[in-house]
Amino acid sequence: MRSLLLAALAALAFIPALPAAVPDIVPRPVSVVEGQGKPFTLKWGQTVGGDARFAGEMETLRQTLFPATGIWLKPADGATTFRFVHDPARPKEGYALTVSEQGVEIRASEPAGAFYAIQTLRQLLPADIYRRAPVRGDWKMPAVTIEDAPRYAWRGIMLDPCRNFFGVESLKRQLDAMAAHKLNVLHWHLTDDQGWRIEIKKHPRLAEIGGARPSTPRPFNRLKQDGEPQPAQYYTQEQIREVVAYAAKLHITIVPEIEMPGHAVAALRAYPALACAADPDLTPNWGVLKEIFCAGNPETYALLEDVLDEVVALFPGPYVHIGGDEAPKTRWNACPKCKAKMKELGCKDMHQLQTRFAEHFAAYLASKGRNCIGWDEILEGGLPKGAAIMSWRGTAAGIRAAKAGHPVVMTPKPVCYVDYNQLVPGDPYEYIPNNTPNPIWKTYSIDPSAGLPAEAQPFVLGLQGNLWAEYIRADEDRDWKLWPRAAAIAEIGWTPQADRDWDDFYGRMSRSGMERLRRLGLNAAPLTQPKQ
Ligand code: ACM
Ligand code: ZN
Repeated sequence: MRSLLLAALAALAFIPALPAAVPDIVPRPVSVVEGQGKPFTLKWGQTVGGDARFAGEMETLRQTLFPATGIWLKPADGATTFRFVHDPARPKEGYALTVSEQGVEIRASEPAGAFYAIQTLRQLLPADIYRRAPVRGDWKMPAVTIEDAPRYAWRGIMLDPCRNFFGVESLKRQLDAMAAHKLNVLHWHLTDDQGWRIEIKKHPRLAEIGGARPSTPRPFNRLKQDGEPQPAQYYTQEQIREVVAYAAKLHITIVPEIEMPGHAVAALRAYPALACAADPDLTPNWGVLKEIFCAGNPETYALLEDVLDEVVALFPGPYVHIGGDEAPKTRWNACPKCKAKMKELGCKDMHQLQTRFAEHFAAYLASKGRNCIGWDEILEGGLPKGAAIMSWRGTAAGIRAAKAGHPVVMTPKPVCYVDYNQLVPGDPYEYIPNNTPNPIWKTYSIDPSAGLPAEAQPFVLGLQGNLWAEYIRADEDRDWKLWPRAAAIAEIGWTPQADRDWDDFYGRMSRSGMERLRRLGLNAAPLTQPKQ
């Protein structure tokens, strides 16, 4: 009788009838066993210590807990409240986290795993832990044992500062939010038609001329101009080093992208002689533009090699992205230099020439000890030796490449395109009424390894959400389009496919995940559901 009464009251008050099956952790961990004991309470005077290889993560833990709680854990030897233990049996990026009334133990084989244990630990605390200023709180964590490791090694987000530039501080906020969701790759799209955003010391014109623009398509009609010149905006090498170091502490690898041969109009504004045509059309319009780097001009190769020299000196990660998408062959087909190059290389068409062009830079990067990745057009002329593929026009190209033993990142349009319409009713940031819908539940539905035979699955590095910025004016639009969809990308990348369930994800996000995004200071879009 009493339980009936409670159930009726719960229904009236919209209290969920059942407690959450697991704490509201996003991405969902592999295994969660709730403890029987009392919760742990964070207090002044508690200590942190353990294996010296985790010294960086001990400091990260202290700095993670301090801003909201005002509590500094004291580093100590011996038996400490928070303990970091080296456990070689834990998988790469994996961890075990045990919370009891007495203390917290983190086990990992390497620092990245310990870092992810800290991110999980943060989600066991009230969402206020994400605040950057002190707040009164009851800092308790339930007794629990969690064992966890990611499904994929590449859990990425692509950001595009070319169409609309954003500064270093704003980028750091996104890196913080990504790390909180165990996303570990920032694909930084640094060059495009509308802006060259990376300082190149040997060729300063690239950023100084290519980073400025004469005019911008009027918001948001890509074929009309506002006629307002924008001064050069770009990241200096010093700023890039600062971002790379900041990301490294968050275990985020940055993959810089230098677009070639297409999406190069900004570079051609600086160096018009590298276009095929004598009088190139350097329109500031958006879209797929015909003016691309000439593949028959040795100076194109020389300039791009100089650029890559500086890129590899700035970015220590294993991959450099060389673009390759949306490169119409109109100019190449009419260019004597490109035609001669095609003949010299024995290519049967310009698609093959593009594949050879990609192979040239793949080999150049290999000579510097780096891997190269490109958009899936680079395999239109055959699989380019030594290049990984980013599959964006669906997954077919990725499947083909993985079957042939090429590493692949799946980022199929539209599900991984987080600039697309997310079907939020009355969306104030949706400027294109008939934009292909890509609501969060559609994003959540993809399995990056679907359709692949078992032997090809190891070649899928992971997945990525892409945030193109033609229709983004400010940080608030960017946050809105990226979050909460980036949390769905994070869960697809981390959680075993068999444990993923939309309703379960929706529940964790609506109870806790959305509040965390707000506490992180993000202007996240509301969480939506498919129509029931
Ligand atoms: C792309 O969306 N053009 C890769
Ligand atoms: Zn040419």
